[in-house]
Amino acid sequence: MKICAYPDPILRKQAEPVVNIDDEIQNLIDNMGKVMYEASGIGLAANQVGAPKRVIVFDINYREKGKDLNVLINPTIVLAEDKIEFEEGCLSVPDFQDNITRKKYLKVKGVDRHGKPIDIEAEDLLAICIQHEIDHLNGKLILDHVSHLKRNLYRKKIDKLMKKGDNGYGSLL
Ligand code: NI
Repeated sequence: MKICAYPDPILRKQAEPVVNIDDEIQNLIDNMGKVMYEASGIGLAANQVGAPKRVIVFDINYREKGKDLNVLINPTIVLAEDKIEFEEGCLSVPDFQDNITRKKYLKVKGVDRHGKPIDIEAEDLLAICIQHEIDHLNGKLILDHVSHLKRNLYRKKIDKLMKKGDNGYGSLL
């Protein structure tokens, strides 16, 4: 399983809600965790590994690999307050970082991998991470939060790299 990178069209797809948490979804979750830790990421959305399903995984204490993998299926933001700015990167947008303003506090609902309802209260990095991953499920990337100029420059850079057949990774979310 590999991480899909911009401009892969899967990253622009609206992910589908999960109806049955079956073996396929369990395997997807296991693989997402593995891929995320291998890439030293703190969050990953299912469409980043080619599965347009509403599943995200995250672990902001990723240095202790595998200890605290959080899984959120069909996440919904029920409350979002205040603002925070943070320099974000994305595993699917290699070699790009920029300051992005998000909500500082978040309440999110969803279910875990056993189908049990969960409520998460998040702030700061965790809130940023969850918003970033939910953006992925809606086909949105960090590039959509930055200026046209920066987006166009990145597009040109990627076009050039793709002509050379290069495609590296280097960021966190
Ligand atoms: Ni990302």
